[in-house]
Amino acid sequence: MDEEIIKLVNIRKIYFLGKVSIEVLKGIDLTVKKGEFVAIMGPSGSGKSTLLNIIGCLDRPTEGRYILEGVEVTERDDRELAEIRNRKIGFVFQSFNLLPRMPAWKNVELPLIYTGVNARERKDLAMKMLEKVGLLERAEHRPSELSGGEQQRVAIARALINTPSVILADEPTGNLDSRSGHEVMEIFKSLNKEGATIILVTHERDVAKYAERVVTIKDGICQDGCF
Ligand SMILES: Nc1ncnc2c1ncn2[C@@H]1O[C@H](COP(=O)(O)OP(=O)(O)O)[C@@H](O)[C@H]1O
Ligand SMILES: [Mg+2]
Repeated sequence: MDEEIIKLVNIRKIYFLGKVSIEVLKGIDLTVKKGEFVAIMGPSGSGKSTLLNIIGCLDRPTEGRYILEGVEVTERDDRELAEIRNRKIGFVFQSFNLLPRMPAWKNVELPLIYTGVNARERKDLAMKMLEKVGLLERAEHRPSELSGGEQQRVAIARALINTPSVILADEPTGNLDSRSGHEVMEIFKSLNKEGATIILVTHERDVAKYAERVVTIKDGICQDGCF
């Protein structure tokens, strides 16, 4: 279980806004191994989402190297990056990002639509993922008919359906009351026990304590430990 899934070497990110530029990440070095559950902490504005978006191939660093399962991601073009993202990354956002008109199971099968898996198999898999997050009996419910915690569990099922190499979660409990938040974190914990690699961003210690390893971003640099 010592296989490196993610290796970031001297990652820098500078945002250019007209004549102004801000350097958010100033040389991040981070390695994540298969099966790890890592929490990235840091105050608001410290660059947590910026870093997670780079790891999730939603954004590119200004400088530095990113190796995902042995592949140099930084050398890929946009089309290849999108493909890597679809195959290897499962993303869970603070705001769930579910399609409101679709029942839960259709939201869950969405990442498989363009992969050539047939409709029957897609639905079977979606149902299996909903069962994993304890929502099988809610499969036909639309997002508006579900609680916030249930909606986030649907989003987790969606993130799992393409058996990603890593699950990324950006403040997944940020829109939830504390009880639903803990329910969602228990799901991440049990997925990790089954072998899933998880990287979670949070500014809350209560949430970070579910992870086995905490790293903190401070002044654009990343260090192991909680500060
Ligand atoms: N697309 C962008 N363009 C310009 N500045 C940005 C952009 N995204 C984030 N920032 C800035 O980068 C800094 C870090 O943002 P972010 O990564 O969202 O922090 P966190 O998730 O830790 O709150 C903030 O100062 C934010 O305003
Ligand atoms: Mg953020």
